[in-house]
Amino acid sequence: MNETERIIYLRQQLHEHNHNYYVLNQPTITDQEFDMLMHELQDLESHHPEMADPNSPSQRVGSDLNQNFTQVAHKYPMLSLANTYNEQDVEEWYDSVKRGLQGEDFEVCCEMKYDGLSISLTYVDGKLVRGVTRGDGVHGDDVTANVKTIRCIPLVLKEGSGYPQEFEIRGEILMPWKVFERLNAEREAAEEPLFANPRNAASGTLKSQNSKLVASRQLDSYLYYLLGDTLPTDGHYENLQTAAQWGFKISQGMKKAKTLQEIYDYISYWDTERKNLPVATDGIVLKVNSIRQQQALGYTAKSPRWAIAYKFKAERACTRLNSVTYQVGRTGAVTPVANMDAVQLAGTIVKRATLNNEDFIRSFDLHIGDYVYVEKGGEIIPKIVGVAMEKRPDDAEPVKFIDRCPECGTPLVRYEDEAAHYCPNDTGCPPQIKGRIEHFIARRAMNIDSIGPETVDDYYRRGLVRNIADLYTIQKDAINASGTREKSAQKVLAGIEASKKVPFERVVFALGIRFVGETSAKLLARHFKTMEALRNASVEQLMEVDGIGEVIAKSVVTYFHNHVNEHIVDRLAAFRLQMGLSEEQLTESSDKLAGKSIVISGVFAKHSRDEYKAMIERNGGKNVGSISGKTSFILAGENMGPSKLQKAEKLGIQLVDEDTFLSMIE
Ligand code: IVH
Repeated sequence: MNETERIIYLRQQLHEHNHNYYVLNQPTITDQEFDMLMHELQDLESHHPEMADPNSPSQRVGSDLNQNFTQVAHKYPMLSLANTYNEQDVEEWYDSVKRGLQGEDFEVCCEMKYDGLSISLTYVDGKLVRGVTRGDGVHGDDVTANVKTIRCIPLVLKEGSGYPQEFEIRGEILMPWKVFERLNAEREAAEEPLFANPRNAASGTLKSQNSKLVASRQLDSYLYYLLGDTLPTDGHYENLQTAAQWGFKISQGMKKAKTLQEIYDYISYWDTERKNLPVATDGIVLKVNSIRQQQALGYTAKSPRWAIAYKFKAERACTRLNSVTYQVGRTGAVTPVANMDAVQLAGTIVKRATLNNEDFIRSFDLHIGDYVYVEKGGEIIPKIVGVAMEKRPDDAEPVKFIDRCPECGTPLVRYEDEAAHYCPNDTGCPPQIKGRIEHFIARRAMNIDSIGPETVDDYYRRGLVRNIADLYTIQKDAINASGTREKSAQKVLAGIEASKKVPFERVVFALGIRFVGETSAKLLARHFKTMEALRNASVEQLMEVDGIGEVIAKSVVTYFHNHVNEHIVDRLAAFRLQMGLSEEQLTESSDKLAGKSIVISGVFAKHSRDEYKAMIERNGGKNVGSISGKTSFILAGENMGPSKLQKAEKLGIQLVDEDTFLSMIE
């Protein structure tokens, strides 16, 4: 076997092992053996760029280069389902189907309703060519690069399994409970905002521009709807079983029912059993099984007549509201929290619930001593959904929102268009100061991992640090004073020292300017190049940066106009943190491709596609996924797809080969 043949062999083996592990849950080799095959493949592929294949198993790792999602029209619109909540609604639907089919016999396929986000996958010649989100039902975002990182979604279907030449399959993308809980625990430790439920977490992940991050989040997927001009049979259930043979992971526990009673039995069985599933479900979907009958029944404007969703009731409990306390976060936002008598709800004991903001409290006219209904749907944090008015004690006092910060006593403010109250004392309010220090040292910011939240609290209480700049003045004796061991003290100091090398863009992020996340920090750093230029920029100049809007621009100006912040930034500069792009970054970047919108297509000999993407970005250009009238040129390699070539020709867009491209940015 020569190297080329070995690549083909390894790809086929890895697709198979992937399927065994992620779809069938029956691995036949160890993780270590899998990794060895994968490394061998990656190694061979790097020596054979002419063998590049976007559907190779090695492509699952993703890339951390920004991608821009292009909008794609759905071939068939993605509709939603009408909801029902009780047996009577189900019966009405069942009768309407019976009438619609004029007494003809029919079967109903019962299946789980997954609570994630829907995705439409297109396969041509057994290869995944596109993954598109639901969007508005007519157009969705092309998230193919992210979808490819989801291990249970086949990149290539089983050879010879009889799949149609072209078809679409739809399903749900989900974050398993276990992954969700781990992710939130990590976010809590890093003081990042928590995801309310696995659906939001999955959706945030799938829409991330960084496919490497998507790969790390271990998303799962179940497929439940096959579409195309040539399907295997007339039965929806049968078609999905066949799709499983092609390599797909299909909806669990699908079952055909003939009578209403069989449908009710299915619903009541899964209402309890679903709690043992690894992913969130929020109901049952009922579908008329025959596709011919589906077509006869047709659609209303919004949803099919041949299918309906039955939604499970969220679990609910009633308990007494004892008090409301208020938490102040890093940004100064004040969150009211309900403290209640402990009550058992969906397998956990609940004592606290968030009350969001003042308007939320008002909407329920909450009184201390009220009996409140709490619900836990797909959420981890329970919600108050109502008040048992008949149980309100006569002398109950209404909850009155505080007007001063519970931590520092400063009068609270509420900005126009915002529901939250804020403590404006951002440079003097303890939780805000501590929160900002914790943000500063976080892994994705200055990465001073030798210090954790407890240490920050300790240093703050002992007066060692009052702001982020004070970290650089800490002396070993002071650390030792609290009984820290010599070795740990050395580690703390080494961590602080090492942070002086952290690149400028992360310093910008670490400052904790409101609304400036990692991405905006990067954009600002790359555009202004030095802290000096950034702090002198006006709102208008800031808004000239592609991707920076008014809210961020104003927030940056406000930050640097505060003299406490000015002093902190001056001190950070004096401590020799990176206050500008490095020599390397400066020489690397240029604006030679500024304003250019560039499509990469085909296979290249000198650099990988990812490297070309990075070069485009470094030189101020924009890499886009598909050709349109706005495309400036196509960076074209060998074997460019015929449809792309045709489109380029039609729109008169220039093709640039790799040598010409490299000379453009020299
Ligand atoms: S079938 C035309 N089957 O629920 C019908 N949908 O409200 C296409 N969903 O957007 C949908 N599990 O995201 C179908 N087993 C299942 C489902 C399911 C979850 C979602 C899907 C859809 C929404 C409808």
